[in-house]
Amino acid sequence: MKALPFPAYAKINVGLRILGRREDGYHNLDTNFLQISLHDTLFFERTAAPVFELSCNWPELAAGGANLCEHAYRMLVEASVQPLGVRLRLEKRIPTGAGLGGGSSDAAVTLLALNQLWQLDLPVSRLEELALQLGSDVPFFLRGGYCHGQGRGEILSTIDPLPEYWILVVAPPVSVSTSWAYQNVKFGLTNGQKSSTFSAFKLKINESSHLGERVHNDFEAIVFERYPELAAIKQQLLSGKALAASMSGSGSTVYGVFETQEAAQQTQRLFQDQHKTFLARPVQWGKRELDQYVSSCAADSQPGFGAGL
Ligand code: C5P
Repeated sequence: MKALPFPAYAKINVGLRILGRREDGYHNLDTNFLQISLHDTLFFERTAAPVFELSCNWPELAAGGANLCEHAYRMLVEASVQPLGVRLRLEKRIPTGAGLGGGSSDAAVTLLALNQLWQLDLPVSRLEELALQLGSDVPFFLRGGYCHGQGRGEILSTIDPLPEYWILVVAPPVSVSTSWAYQNVKFGLTNGQKSSTFSAFKLKINESSHLGERVHNDFEAIVFERYPELAAIKQQLLSGKALAASMSGSGSTVYGVFETQEAAQQTQRLFQDQHKTFLARPVQWGKRELDQYVSSCAADSQPGFGAGL
């Protein structure tokens, strides 16, 4: 009997403004999160003993102490009446330290999948509280799709419909520390600028040459100063056929937005020898879709957990 695969999709930030530092040390943001088809895959298997066991195709993650999936597991164990154990096989593809939210997405899927598989029935509001304790962009992954985010990133409103563009993700071998980026960002400079409380993508195709003006990321100034190779990637994307190019979150990933698959693939070839690249499409995968997926598999009498039940 095989365990169900659960995809955990990456995100990019389509515009990101930092509005100011808060009393709790975090920063208020104004951003659009877009979920994209680049994904990790998680497989859960129930264990007899109440333990958390992790295996991963990137050994440094399995060996590196408690990760966000284990934190998510522990939160749900506390919410449960019976001792529960799980063996998690994590197949990573999303680069880490890259501004793509890979760890946050894995944690969100762990919350959602175990809530379903263990039939805990925690309400969305409780899952949202737990998600925010795990990290500022974890709540977004409970919804997925395309959302405007404010506060730490947890005040979310869905933007419909999903944009139709192709996204070329270029992930150089650079890991940027998010807390370093927040500590050094010069957010004062952009406070007066127009807020991105719009959908950067709500442009008609014939207006899409203006997309670049809308996709501004406040982190670029400080991160590009330290890693000039990232600025060069953005320039290369823009001199290709990208409608817009930007860093995602605090980096190091830089993405380009393309109208057609062909244009994206052409530009992808320019980077292929030097950097990891991924061609992706916007996707919608949150609590609603994951719950439906588990129910439809249960209806087909495939249990969500693998062998070892
Ligand atoms: O919430 P998360 O664990 O992802 O945050 C990582 C780092 O980024 C923390 O050091 C936090 O202080 C900083 N951060 C911030 N404001 C946010 C999100 C994160 O200052 N809105």
